[in-house]
Amino acid sequence: MSGKPTYYITTPIYYVNDNPHIGHAYTTLACDVLARFMRLDGHDVMFLTGTDEHGQKVEKAAEAAGVDPQSFCDRVSENFRILAETMNFSIDDFIRTTEPRHERSVQALWTKLVDAGQIYLDAYEGWYAVRDEAFYAEDELTTGPDGQKLAPSGAPVEWVKEPSYFFRLSAWQDGLLELYESRPDFIMPESRRNEVMSFVKSGLRDLSVSRTSFKWGVPVPGDPEHIMYVWIDALTNYITAAGYPDEDGESFKRWWPAIHMMGKDILRFHAVYWPAFLMAAGIEVPRRIFAHGWWTREGQKISKSLGNVIVPSDIVAQYGLDQVRYALLREVNFGNDGDFSHRGVVQRTNHDLANEYGNLAQRVLSMIAKNCDGQVPEHGAFTPEDQAMLGQAHGLLAAVRGHLDVQAFHLALQAIWDVIGEANRYVDVQAPWTLKKTDPARMATVLYVLAETIRHLALLTQPVMPESSARLLDQIAIPADQRDFAALGEGFALKPGTPLPKPQGVFPRYVEEEEGAA
Ligand code: MSP
Repeated sequence: MSGKPTYYITTPIYYVNDNPHIGHAYTTLACDVLARFMRLDGHDVMFLTGTDEHGQKVEKAAEAAGVDPQSFCDRVSENFRILAETMNFSIDDFIRTTEPRHERSVQALWTKLVDAGQIYLDAYEGWYAVRDEAFYAEDELTTGPDGQKLAPSGAPVEWVKEPSYFFRLSAWQDGLLELYESRPDFIMPESRRNEVMSFVKSGLRDLSVSRTSFKWGVPVPGDPEHIMYVWIDALTNYITAAGYPDEDGESFKRWWPAIHMMGKDILRFHAVYWPAFLMAAGIEVPRRIFAHGWWTREGQKISKSLGNVIVPSDIVAQYGLDQVRYALLREVNFGNDGDFSHRGVVQRTNHDLANEYGNLAQRVLSMIAKNCDGQVPEHGAFTPEDQAMLGQAHGLLAAVRGHLDVQAFHLALQAIWDVIGEANRYVDVQAPWTLKKTDPARMATVLYVLAETIRHLALLTQPVMPESSARLLDQIAIPADQRDFAALGEGFALKPGTPLPKPQGVFPRYVEEEEGAA
């Protein structure tokens, strides 16, 4: 074991009734950036994603596809592994709820809850929405145009009446409120925390945690007519992957508790039910629960019926992988809803990436290639301007770390782009192309300062744009073992005289098809 601090980050596990779309890609991307950042920043990281394969919704989808549920799950789950490759997600583990390690874990948790007197048998009568896999009270429902009762999410509900086990959620109201009060950053962002708190304050009813009307799930230990409610099954994945039920094992002690990332639609399950289950079982609650917003497309809600679903592999093919990764995290303040528009991505690609970042690197590296024998230039004494520029580069890690610690990806990127802006101004002010004639030694110093600034920028953009940053680092000949954040600062500064490869543009402009054809 390395002795490094650990960091455990999870995505929701995705339902296999659907193919991967932008919602899945977005949640996992956010986690990927955190995982990559923390690894580079000296942590041992476990980054978990996977698929949620049980429940009535998946059972129905398999039936509609005319295959048995397990083959259906095997097929669709694979699409989420492919998504990870398409998006260059650095996952450490991929969990499927149909795996034996997971069934064992859910049954152990169930048994623990029963032993603690937290689960009892009764009968459920009320509304259920299969699409959300959630129970709703009468006063939460609305009526659709055709008289159909609808859940707040818009999902149709059906009246369910069957014997059911219940979890004593009502007993945890005070415990949950104490948790939220004592740890103000447990649920983020704050607006979401407030919503959860008022939901819990309005009163909690015991939760139905088993169903008898379908079969596709984990049977209740000792009463296999009952299938566990899919959310108790699904949420438990987070501890399964850490090694549960071996609570005293090295793995579990090492990784748990985790940070959970998800969309706002499934916050209640994570911020209310999940900590209640854990407290009831005497297991530590998560470190943080962060709910991000939802994307619309060109101002419209995204839905299959509107035919405007965004398929990750399509936009990657169209705009480029790192361009998509960057745009998704830069376009919106993380936590808020955002709109995915063609114009927005093109603007990010051409302005932020090509004109600002790419152009900075390209002009500096090509001047070095032409005027410094293609080697890292020798530098003289640094002027106050040089020191200010280097100081900005050196200060960047602390700023980015602070923002990512609260999942503010947009601010982290803003901080990096502030330094890119400074560097572009520094080039213009120092005008190395003029110095070339008047003071070549000074030109070399200026180019050195810029190359060193680019080194810092490229190291710090690795989590968001791994491939492009690697290509930039290749161009300034940074060895593989000097690409983590321990190499930031003066200790591993570029060595004058190091030969550099021929510079090549890293961030191409997006050219509209019509323009390209013209
Ligand atoms: N299986 C449950 C989660 C169980 S976790 C223990 C589930 N699965 S899901 O496949 O529906 O998850 C979808 C994820 O994508 C959620 O985090 C959701 O918020 C996100 N999104 C779905 N559509 C989205 C957008 N249009 N925009 C952003 N994210 C959205 O829920």
